[in-house]
Amino acid sequence: MARVLLASNRGPVSFAEDGSGDLFLRRGSGGLVSGLMGAASDNEAVWVCAALGDADRRAAREAGGSGRIDIAGYDTDGARVRMLGIDPMTLHRAYNGVANRTLWFLHHLLFNTATAPVFDERFAREWAAFVDYDEAFAVALAEEAAPCAVVSIHDYHLSLTPRMLRHVRPDLRIGHFSHTPWAPAMYFQLLPDSIAHDLLTGLLAADTVGFLCQRWADAFLECCAVLLGARVEGDTVSHGGGRTRVRVHSLGVDAAGLRRRVAQPDVLARAAVLRELVGDRKLILRIDRTEMSKNIVRGLAAYRELLRSHPEWHGRVVHLAFAYPSRHDLPEYREYTAAVQQMAGEIEDEFATPSWAPLVLEVNDDYPRSLAAYLLADVLVVNPIRDGMNLVAKEGVVLSERDLALVLSREAGAVYDLGGGALVINPYDVSGTAAALHTALSMPAEERAARRRLLVAGATASPPRQWLAGQLAELGA
Ligand code: G6P
Repeated sequence: MARVLLASNRGPVSFAEDGSGDLFLRRGSGGLVSGLMGAASDNEAVWVCAALGDADRRAAREAGGSGRIDIAGYDTDGARVRMLGIDPMTLHRAYNGVANRTLWFLHHLLFNTATAPVFDERFAREWAAFVDYDEAFAVALAEEAAPCAVVSIHDYHLSLTPRMLRHVRPDLRIGHFSHTPWAPAMYFQLLPDSIAHDLLTGLLAADTVGFLCQRWADAFLECCAVLLGARVEGDTVSHGGGRTRVRVHSLGVDAAGLRRRVAQPDVLARAAVLRELVGDRKLILRIDRTEMSKNIVRGLAAYRELLRSHPEWHGRVVHLAFAYPSRHDLPEYREYTAAVQQMAGEIEDEFATPSWAPLVLEVNDDYPRSLAAYLLADVLVVNPIRDGMNLVAKEGVVLSERDLALVLSREAGAVYDLGGGALVINPYDVSGTAAALHTALSMPAEERAARRRLLVAGATASPPRQWLAGQLAELGA
Protein backbone atom coordinates (compact mmCIF):
# COMPACT_ATOMS: atom_id res chain seq x y z
CA MET A 1 0.00 0.00 0.00
CA ALA A 2 1.23 3.48 -0.80
CA ARG A 3 2.11 6.20 1.66
CA VAL A 4 1.81 8.90 -1.01
CA LEU A 5 -0.79 8.91 -3.80
CA LEU A 6 -1.49 11.22 -6.70
CA ALA A 7 -4.73 11.36 -8.64
CA SER A 8 -5.57 13.09 -11.90
CA ASN A 9 -7.78 12.44 -14.90
CA ARG A 10 -4.88 12.35 -17.37
CA GLY A 11 -1.98 10.27 -16.22
CA PRO A 12 1.72 10.63 -16.99
CA VAL A 13 1.50 8.35 -20.03
CA SER A 14 -1.04 7.11 -22.52
CA PHE A 15 -0.99 3.95 -24.60
CA ALA A 16 -1.35 3.47 -28.34
CA GLU A 17 -1.24 0.40 -30.59
CA ASP A 18 1.43 0.10 -33.25
CA GLY A 19 0.91 -1.48 -36.71
CA SER A 20 1.21 -5.00 -35.33
CA GLY A 21 -1.21 -4.41 -32.48
CA ASP A 22 1.42 -4.09 -29.75
CA LEU A 23 0.99 -1.44 -27.07
CA PHE A 24 3.46 1.40 -26.76
CA LEU A 25 3.61 4.37 -24.41
CA ARG A 26 3.49 8.11 -25.00
CA ARG A 27 3.98 10.93 -22.55
CA GLY A 28 0.75 12.62 -21.40
CA SER A 29 0.25 16.26 -22.43
CA GLY A 30 -0.64 19.44 -20.57
CA GLY A 31 0.66 21.51 -17.69
CA LEU A 32 -0.47 19.14 -14.97
CA VAL A 33 1.53 16.21 -16.31
CA SER A 34 4.61 18.39 -16.84
CA GLY A 35 4.32 19.55 -13.26
CA LEU A 36 3.87 16.23 -11.54
CA MET A 37 6.02 14.04 -13.76
CA GLY A 38 9.37 14.91 -12.24
CA ALA A 39 8.09 14.72 -8.69
CA ALA A 40 6.17 11.46 -8.50
CA SER A 41 9.09 9.06 -8.20
CA ASP A 42 10.73 10.67 -5.14
CA ASN A 43 7.82 9.59 -3.03
CA GLU A 44 7.35 6.15 -4.57
CA ALA A 45 3.90 7.45 -5.29
CA VAL A 46 1.09 5.52 -6.87
CA TRP A 47 -0.54 7.71 -9.53
CA VAL A 48 -4.22 6.94 -10.10
CA CYS A 49 -5.57 8.16 -13.45
CA ALA A 50 -8.28 7.32 -15.97
CA ALA A 51 -7.77 5.02 -18.95
CA LEU A 52 -8.70 7.57 -21.61
CA GLY A 53 -8.79 5.51 -24.80
CA ASP A 54 -9.19 1.93 -26.00
CA ALA A 55 -5.44 1.24 -25.80
CA ASP A 56 -5.33 2.58 -22.22
CA ARG A 57 -8.28 0.37 -21.31
CA ARG A 58 -6.53 -2.64 -22.84
CA ALA A 59 -3.35 -1.83 -20.86
CA ALA A 60 -5.42 -1.52 -17.68
CA ARG A 61 -7.07 -4.91 -18.33
CA GLU A 62 -3.75 -6.58 -19.12
CA ALA A 63 -2.20 -5.20 -15.93
CA GLY A 64 -4.22 -7.87 -14.14
CA GLY A 65 -5.25 -8.01 -10.50
CA SER A 66 -3.60 -4.96 -8.97
CA GLY A 67 -4.33 -2.83 -12.04
CA ARG A 68 -0.93 -1.21 -11.56
CA ILE A 69 1.25 -0.62 -14.60
CA ASP A 70 4.99 -0.30 -14.25
CA ILE A 71 6.06 2.61 -16.43
CA ALA A 72 9.69 2.87 -15.33
CA GLY A 73 11.94 4.23 -18.04
CA TYR A 74 9.36 6.20 -20.01
CA ASP A 75 10.47 9.73 -19.11
CA THR A 76 8.42 9.22 -15.98
CA ASP A 77 11.06 8.51 -13.36
CA GLY A 78 9.42 5.22 -12.55
CA ALA A 79 6.21 6.35 -10.90
CA ARG A 80 3.71 3.53 -10.52
CA VAL A 81 0.44 4.09 -12.31
CA ARG A 82 -3.00 2.65 -11.80
CA MET A 83 -5.26 3.38 -14.75
CA LEU A 84 -8.97 3.12 -14.07
CA GLY A 85 -10.92 1.34 -16.76
CA ILE A 86 -14.04 3.46 -16.46
CA ASP A 87 -16.95 2.59 -18.77
CA PRO A 88 -16.54 4.71 -21.96
CA MET A 89 -19.99 6.35 -21.80
CA THR A 90 -19.52 7.37 -18.17
CA LEU A 91 -16.08 8.72 -19.02
CA HIS A 92 -17.42 10.62 -22.06
CA ARG A 93 -20.20 12.29 -20.08
CA ALA A 94 -17.97 13.12 -17.13
CA TYR A 95 -14.90 14.25 -19.10
CA ASN A 96 -16.46 15.95 -22.13
CA GLY A 97 -19.83 17.01 -20.72
CA VAL A 98 -18.94 18.17 -17.23
CA ALA A 99 -15.16 18.58 -16.93
CA ASN A 100 -14.36 20.08 -20.33
CA ARG A 101 -17.53 21.71 -21.57
CA THR A 102 -18.74 22.99 -18.21
CA LEU A 103 -15.99 23.31 -15.59
CA TRP A 104 -13.13 24.22 -17.95
CA PHE A 105 -15.33 26.82 -19.67
CA LEU A 106 -16.43 28.15 -16.28
CA HIS A 107 -12.95 28.65 -14.83
CA HIS A 108 -11.60 30.13 -18.09
CA LEU A 109 -14.64 32.41 -18.62
CA LEU A 110 -15.24 30.86 -22.04
CA PHE A 111 -19.03 30.73 -22.23
CA ASN A 112 -20.80 32.73 -24.86
CA THR A 113 -23.58 33.40 -22.34
CA ALA A 114 -26.20 34.17 -25.00
CA THR A 115 -26.37 30.43 -25.68
CA ALA A 116 -24.36 28.57 -23.02
CA PRO A 117 -24.27 27.05 -20.52
CA VAL A 118 -27.58 25.18 -20.50
CA PHE A 119 -28.47 23.03 -17.52
CA ASP A 120 -31.15 20.58 -18.63
CA GLU A 121 -31.89 16.84 -18.61
CA ARG A 122 -28.81 16.12 -20.67
CA PHE A 123 -26.64 17.90 -18.13
CA ALA A 124 -28.34 15.92 -15.35
CA ARG A 125 -27.19 12.68 -17.06
CA GLU A 126 -23.70 14.08 -17.47
CA TRP A 127 -23.59 15.15 -13.85
CA ALA A 128 -24.68 11.67 -12.68
CA ALA A 129 -21.78 10.24 -14.72
CA PHE A 130 -19.41 12.77 -13.18
CA VAL A 131 -20.46 11.63 -9.70
CA ASP A 132 -19.76 7.98 -10.66
CA TYR A 133 -16.43 8.89 -12.21
CA ASP A 134 -15.24 10.83 -9.15
CA GLU A 135 -16.45 7.93 -6.99
CA ALA A 136 -14.32 5.47 -9.00
CA PHE A 137 -11.25 7.52 -8.09
CA ALA A 138 -12.26 7.65 -4.44
CA VAL A 139 -12.69 3.86 -4.36
CA ALA A 140 -9.31 3.22 -6.02
CA LEU A 141 -7.50 5.68 -3.75
CA ALA A 142 -9.11 4.14 -0.69
CA GLU A 143 -7.87 0.69 -1.81
CA GLU A 144 -4.33 1.84 -2.56
CA ALA A 145 -3.70 4.09 0.45
CA ALA A 146 -1.79 2.90 3.52
CA PRO A 147 -3.18 4.01 6.90
CA CYS A 148 -2.81 7.79 7.34
CA ALA A 149 -1.33 8.13 3.84
CA VAL A 150 -1.16 11.45 2.02
CA VAL A 151 -3.31 11.84 -1.10
CA SER A 152 -2.79 14.67 -3.55
CA ILE A 153 -5.77 15.07 -5.93
CA HIS A 154 -5.51 17.27 -9.00
CA ASP A 155 -7.83 19.47 -10.99
CA TYR A 156 -11.49 20.17 -11.72
CA HIS A 157 -12.21 16.66 -13.00
CA LEU A 158 -11.90 15.37 -9.44
CA SER A 159 -13.70 18.12 -7.52
CA LEU A 160 -16.01 15.70 -5.70
CA THR A 161 -13.39 13.06 -4.90
CA PRO A 162 -12.00 14.64 -1.71
CA ARG A 163 -15.37 14.47 0.03
CA MET A 164 -16.08 10.93 -1.19
CA LEU A 165 -12.66 9.74 -0.06
CA ARG A 166 -12.91 11.50 3.31
CA HIS A 167 -16.17 9.64 3.87
CA VAL A 168 -14.63 6.16 3.49
CA ARG A 169 -11.12 6.92 4.76
CA PRO A 170 -11.22 9.59 7.47
CA ASP A 171 -7.63 8.66 8.43
CA LEU A 172 -6.12 10.07 5.21
CA ARG A 173 -4.52 13.47 4.75
CA ILE A 174 -6.09 14.87 1.60
CA GLY A 175 -4.98 17.77 -0.58
CA HIS A 176 -6.64 19.07 -3.73
CA PHE A 177 -4.76 21.23 -6.22
CA SER A 178 -6.17 23.21 -9.19
CA HIS A 179 -3.93 23.77 -12.21
CA THR A 180 -6.52 26.08 -13.73
CA PRO A 181 -7.78 29.50 -12.78
CA TRP A 182 -10.82 29.67 -10.51
CA ALA A 183 -13.93 31.56 -11.64
CA PRO A 184 -15.03 34.69 -9.75
CA ALA A 185 -18.21 34.20 -7.68
CA MET A 186 -20.50 36.09 -10.07
CA TYR A 187 -19.44 33.74 -12.89
CA PHE A 188 -19.41 30.58 -10.76
CA GLN A 189 -23.06 31.37 -9.99
CA LEU A 190 -23.96 30.41 -13.56
CA LEU A 191 -24.01 26.87 -12.15
CA PRO A 192 -27.21 25.56 -10.58
CA ASP A 193 -27.03 26.16 -6.82
CA SER A 194 -26.87 22.47 -5.89
CA ILE A 195 -24.01 21.83 -8.34
CA ALA A 196 -22.06 24.85 -7.11
CA HIS A 197 -22.62 23.65 -3.55
CA ASP A 198 -21.42 20.11 -4.31
CA LEU A 199 -18.29 21.32 -6.11
CA LEU A 200 -17.28 23.68 -3.31
CA THR A 201 -18.03 21.28 -0.46
CA GLY A 202 -16.37 18.47 -2.45
CA LEU A 203 -13.11 20.41 -2.32
CA LEU A 204 -13.57 21.71 1.22
CA ALA A 205 -13.47 18.13 2.51
CA ALA A 206 -9.75 18.22 1.73
CA ASP A 207 -7.31 19.39 4.41
CA THR A 208 -5.75 21.80 1.94
CA VAL A 209 -6.99 23.27 -1.33
CA GLY A 210 -4.19 24.64 -3.49
CA PHE A 211 -3.90 27.08 -6.39
CA LEU A 212 -1.10 28.32 -8.62
CA CYS A 213 -1.43 31.99 -7.67
CA GLN A 214 -3.17 34.18 -5.12
CA ARG A 215 -5.67 35.49 -7.65
CA TRP A 216 -7.24 32.05 -8.15
CA ALA A 217 -7.14 31.30 -4.40
CA ASP A 218 -8.93 34.59 -3.69
CA ALA A 219 -11.65 33.72 -6.23
CA PHE A 220 -12.20 30.36 -4.52
CA LEU A 221 -12.39 32.00 -1.09
CA GLU A 222 -14.91 34.48 -2.51
CA CYS A 223 -17.06 31.61 -3.84
CA CYS A 224 -16.98 29.89 -0.43
CA ALA A 225 -18.04 33.08 1.34
CA VAL A 226 -20.68 34.25 -1.15
CA LEU A 227 -22.20 30.95 -2.29
CA LEU A 228 -21.84 28.77 0.81
CA GLY A 229 -21.89 31.48 3.47
CA ALA A 230 -18.69 29.88 4.80
CA ARG A 231 -16.49 31.75 7.30
CA VAL A 232 -13.26 32.86 5.67
CA GLU A 233 -10.44 34.01 7.96
CA GLY A 234 -7.14 34.61 6.20
CA ASP A 235 -6.45 31.41 4.26
CA THR A 236 -8.81 29.25 6.32
CA VAL A 237 -12.38 28.35 5.38
CA SER A 238 -14.72 27.02 8.06
CA HIS A 239 -17.84 25.30 6.85
CA GLY A 240 -20.10 22.51 8.10
CA GLY A 241 -17.88 21.79 11.12
CA GLY A 242 -14.69 21.41 9.03
CA ARG A 243 -11.71 23.66 8.38
CA THR A 244 -9.74 23.85 5.14
CA ARG A 245 -6.52 25.74 4.42
CA VAL A 246 -6.38 27.44 1.02
CA ARG A 247 -2.76 27.62 -0.10
CA VAL A 248 -0.82 29.04 -3.02
CA HIS A 249 2.02 27.08 -4.63
CA SER A 250 3.44 28.54 -7.79
CA LEU A 251 4.88 25.94 -10.15
CA GLY A 252 8.15 26.47 -12.01
CA VAL A 253 10.24 24.24 -14.25
CA ASP A 254 13.15 21.88 -13.64
CA ALA A 255 15.89 23.74 -15.54
CA ALA A 256 18.55 21.05 -15.16
CA GLY A 257 16.15 18.32 -16.33
CA LEU A 258 15.07 20.37 -19.35
CA ARG A 259 18.69 21.09 -20.31
CA ARG A 260 19.54 17.39 -20.08
CA ARG A 261 16.53 16.57 -22.23
CA VAL A 262 17.45 19.02 -25.01
CA ALA A 263 20.90 17.44 -25.29
CA GLN A 264 19.27 14.18 -26.49
CA PRO A 265 19.68 13.21 -30.16
CA ASP A 266 15.94 13.43 -31.00
CA VAL A 267 15.85 17.10 -29.94
CA LEU A 268 19.15 17.93 -31.64
CA ALA A 269 17.99 16.39 -34.92
CA ARG A 270 14.81 18.48 -34.88
CA ALA A 271 16.78 21.61 -33.95
CA ALA A 272 18.91 21.11 -37.08
CA VAL A 273 15.78 20.92 -39.26
CA LEU A 274 14.29 24.05 -37.67
CA ARG A 275 17.58 25.94 -37.97
CA GLU A 276 17.49 25.27 -41.69
CA LEU A 277 13.87 26.45 -41.89
CA VAL A 278 14.46 29.70 -39.99
CA GLY A 279 17.82 30.59 -41.57
CA ASP A 280 19.04 34.01 -40.51
CA ARG A 281 15.54 35.30 -39.81
CA LYS A 282 14.14 36.15 -36.41
CA LEU A 283 11.91 33.45 -34.94
CA ILE A 284 8.63 34.21 -33.18
CA LEU A 285 7.37 31.03 -31.49
CA ARG A 286 4.13 29.91 -29.86
CA ILE A 287 3.31 26.43 -28.54
CA ASP A 288 -0.17 25.54 -27.32
CA ARG A 289 -2.81 22.91 -27.24
CA THR A 290 -5.43 24.11 -29.75
CA GLU A 291 -7.59 25.52 -27.05
CA MET A 292 -9.88 28.58 -26.93
CA SER A 293 -8.34 29.84 -23.71
CA LYS A 294 -4.93 29.98 -25.40
CA ASN A 295 -6.20 32.75 -27.70
CA ILE A 296 -4.33 31.53 -30.76
CA VAL A 297 -6.53 33.31 -33.30
CA ARG A 298 -5.96 36.74 -31.71
CA GLY A 299 -2.26 35.93 -31.41
CA LEU A 300 -2.05 35.23 -35.15
CA ALA A 301 -4.12 38.36 -35.85
CA ALA A 302 -1.52 40.34 -33.90
CA TYR A 303 1.24 38.87 -36.07
CA ARG A 304 -0.75 39.88 -39.18
CA GLU A 305 -1.08 43.40 -37.79
CA LEU A 306 2.67 43.51 -37.15
CA LEU A 307 3.36 42.59 -40.76
CA ARG A 308 0.84 45.18 -42.00
CA SER A 309 2.12 48.01 -39.81
CA HIS A 310 5.85 47.17 -39.99
CA PRO A 311 6.68 46.05 -43.53
CA GLU A 312 10.37 46.27 -42.61
CA TRP A 313 9.92 42.81 -41.04
CA HIS A 314 8.82 41.19 -44.30
CA GLY A 315 11.26 38.46 -45.18
CA ARG A 316 13.14 38.96 -41.89
CA VAL A 317 10.90 37.07 -39.49
CA VAL A 318 9.25 33.64 -39.30
CA HIS A 319 6.39 32.76 -36.97
CA LEU A 320 6.35 29.12 -35.92
CA ALA A 321 3.00 28.22 -34.38
CA PHE A 322 2.66 24.76 -32.87
CA ALA A 323 -1.03 24.14 -32.17
CA TYR A 324 -1.48 20.58 -31.00
CA PRO A 325 -4.82 18.77 -31.23
CA SER A 326 -6.94 18.80 -28.10
CA ARG A 327 -10.40 17.60 -27.05
CA HIS A 328 -11.61 16.97 -30.58
CA ASP A 329 -14.72 15.20 -29.31
CA LEU A 330 -16.16 18.64 -28.63
CA PRO A 331 -17.46 20.71 -31.58
CA GLU A 332 -16.22 23.92 -29.97
CA TYR A 333 -12.64 22.65 -30.25
CA ARG A 334 -13.05 21.45 -33.83
CA GLU A 335 -14.47 24.84 -34.83
CA TYR A 336 -11.64 26.61 -33.06
CA THR A 337 -9.06 24.46 -34.84
CA ALA A 338 -10.68 25.45 -38.15
CA ALA A 339 -10.55 29.14 -37.15
CA VAL A 340 -6.82 28.84 -36.37
CA GLN A 341 -6.19 27.18 -39.72
CA GLN A 342 -8.22 29.80 -41.55
CA MET A 343 -6.32 32.68 -39.97
CA ALA A 344 -3.02 30.98 -40.83
CA GLY A 345 -4.18 30.60 -44.45
CA GLU A 346 -5.13 34.29 -44.62
CA ILE A 347 -1.69 35.34 -43.40
CA GLU A 348 -0.01 33.13 -45.95
CA ASP A 349 -2.22 34.50 -48.78
CA GLU A 350 -1.49 38.07 -47.84
CA PHE A 351 2.26 37.96 -47.25
CA ALA A 352 3.96 34.78 -48.53
CA THR A 353 6.46 35.11 -51.37
CA PRO A 354 8.34 32.42 -53.28
CA SER A 355 11.29 32.90 -50.94
CA TRP A 356 9.51 33.59 -47.64
CA ALA A 357 6.95 31.65 -45.62
CA PRO A 358 5.89 34.14 -42.93
CA LEU A 359 4.04 31.57 -40.82
CA VAL A 360 4.53 27.84 -40.29
CA LEU A 361 1.61 26.21 -38.48
CA GLU A 362 2.27 22.68 -37.21
CA VAL A 363 -0.62 20.71 -35.77
CA ASN A 364 0.93 17.34 -34.94
CA ASP A 365 2.17 16.93 -31.37
CA ASP A 366 5.94 16.46 -31.20
CA TYR A 367 7.44 17.13 -27.77
CA PRO A 368 11.12 16.95 -28.85
CA ARG A 369 10.37 19.39 -31.69
CA SER A 370 8.78 21.80 -29.19
CA LEU A 371 11.91 21.63 -27.07
CA ALA A 372 14.08 22.22 -30.16
CA ALA A 373 12.02 25.28 -31.11
CA TYR A 374 12.55 26.86 -27.69
CA LEU A 375 16.30 26.73 -28.30
CA LEU A 376 16.01 28.88 -31.43
CA ALA A 377 13.26 31.33 -30.45
CA ASP A 378 13.91 35.09 -30.40
CA VAL A 379 10.37 35.88 -29.24
CA LEU A 380 7.87 33.66 -27.43
CA VAL A 381 4.18 34.62 -27.51
CA VAL A 382 2.03 33.43 -24.62
CA ASN A 383 -1.26 35.33 -24.82
CA PRO A 384 -4.00 33.24 -23.14
CA ILE A 385 -7.25 34.92 -22.25
CA ARG A 386 -6.94 33.06 -18.94
CA ASP A 387 -4.49 30.41 -17.78
CA GLY A 388 -3.76 28.81 -14.41
CA MET A 389 0.01 29.19 -14.86
CA ASN A 390 1.37 28.44 -18.37
CA LEU A 391 4.52 26.36 -18.30
CA VAL A 392 5.33 27.01 -21.98
CA ALA A 393 6.40 30.51 -20.93
CA LYS A 394 8.70 29.08 -18.26
CA GLU A 395 10.18 26.30 -20.40
CA GLY A 396 10.87 28.77 -23.20
CA VAL A 397 12.75 31.32 -21.14
CA VAL A 398 14.92 28.61 -19.61
CA LEU A 399 15.85 26.90 -22.87
CA SER A 400 16.26 29.77 -25.34
CA GLU A 401 19.80 30.07 -26.67
CA ARG A 402 19.03 33.55 -28.00
CA ASP A 403 17.88 35.45 -24.89
CA LEU A 404 14.30 35.32 -26.07
CA ALA A 405 11.93 38.16 -25.32
CA LEU A 406 8.65 37.00 -23.79
CA VAL A 407 5.29 38.54 -24.75
CA LEU A 408 3.04 37.44 -21.90
CA SER A 409 -0.65 37.84 -21.11
CA ARG A 410 -1.56 39.57 -17.87
CA GLU A 411 -4.26 36.90 -17.44
CA ALA A 412 -1.82 33.99 -17.07
CA GLY A 413 -0.76 32.92 -13.58
CA ALA A 414 2.83 32.99 -14.85
CA VAL A 415 2.70 36.80 -14.95
CA TYR A 416 3.20 36.89 -11.17
CA ASP A 417 6.56 35.12 -11.57
CA LEU A 418 7.68 36.50 -14.94
CA GLY A 419 6.00 39.90 -15.20
CA GLY A 420 9.20 41.78 -14.27
CA GLY A 421 11.07 40.50 -17.32
CA ALA A 422 8.23 40.04 -19.82
CA LEU A 423 6.40 42.41 -22.16
CA VAL A 424 2.98 42.14 -20.51
CA ILE A 425 -0.10 42.45 -22.72
CA ASN A 426 -3.88 42.51 -22.50
CA PRO A 427 -4.81 39.37 -24.47
CA TYR A 428 -7.92 40.96 -26.02
CA ASP A 429 -5.87 43.87 -27.37
CA VAL A 430 -4.62 42.68 -30.75
CA SER A 431 -3.01 46.04 -31.61
CA GLY A 432 -1.27 46.13 -28.24
CA THR A 433 0.00 42.59 -28.83
CA ALA A 434 1.26 43.56 -32.30
CA ALA A 435 3.11 46.53 -30.77
CA ALA A 436 4.66 44.22 -28.14
CA LEU A 437 5.83 41.86 -30.90
CA HIS A 438 7.57 44.78 -32.62
CA THR A 439 9.17 45.86 -29.33
CA ALA A 440 10.30 42.29 -28.69
CA LEU A 441 11.84 41.93 -32.16
CA SER A 442 13.59 45.29 -31.89
CA MET A 443 14.85 44.95 -28.31
CA PRO A 444 18.57 45.72 -27.87
CA ALA A 445 20.77 42.80 -26.81
CA GLU A 446 21.60 44.21 -23.34
CA GLU A 447 17.93 44.70 -22.51
CA ARG A 448 17.11 41.18 -23.70
CA ALA A 449 19.88 39.76 -21.51
CA ALA A 450 18.81 41.79 -18.47
CA ARG A 451 15.16 40.77 -18.87
CA ARG A 452 16.16 37.16 -19.49
CA ARG A 453 17.96 37.00 -16.14
CA LEU A 454 14.76 38.07 -14.39
CA LEU A 455 12.70 35.63 -16.44
CA VAL A 456 14.95 32.65 -15.69
CA ALA A 457 14.96 33.46 -11.97
CA GLY A 458 11.14 33.61 -12.01
CA ALA A 459 10.73 30.45 -14.10
CA THR A 460 12.97 28.28 -11.94
CA ALA A 461 11.91 29.55 -8.50
CA SER A 462 9.71 26.59 -7.59
CA PRO A 463 10.67 23.49 -9.57
CA PRO A 464 8.18 20.60 -9.61
CA ARG A 465 9.88 18.49 -6.96
CA GLN A 466 9.98 21.38 -4.52
CA TRP A 467 6.46 22.39 -5.45
CA LEU A 468 5.00 18.94 -4.73
CA ALA A 469 7.21 18.44 -1.68
CA GLY A 470 5.85 21.71 -0.23
CA GLN A 471 2.29 20.49 -0.62
CA LEU A 472 3.01 17.04 0.77
CA ALA A 473 4.85 18.54 3.74
CA GLU A 474 1.83 20.71 4.50
CA LEU A 475 -0.22 17.52 4.59
CA GLY A 476 2.23 15.95 7.00
CA ALA A 477 4.01 13.54 4.62
C1 G6P B 1 -4.38 21.46 -18.34
C2 G6P B 1 -5.20 20.92 -17.19
C3 G6P B 1 -5.02 19.43 -17.07
C4 G6P B 1 -5.32 18.77 -18.39
C5 G6P B 1 -4.48 19.38 -19.49
C6 G6P B 1 -4.76 18.79 -20.86
O1 G6P B 1 -3.03 21.30 -18.05
O2 G6P B 1 -4.84 21.55 -15.98
O3 G6P B 1 -5.89 18.91 -16.12
O4 G6P B 1 -5.04 17.41 -18.29
O5 G6P B 1 -4.71 20.76 -19.53
O6 G6P B 1 -6.12 18.70 -21.11
P1 G6P B 1 -6.79 17.29 -21.42
O7 G6P B 1 -8.26 17.54 -21.45
O8 G6P B 1 -6.22 16.92 -22.76
O9 G6P B 1 -6.38 16.35 -20.35
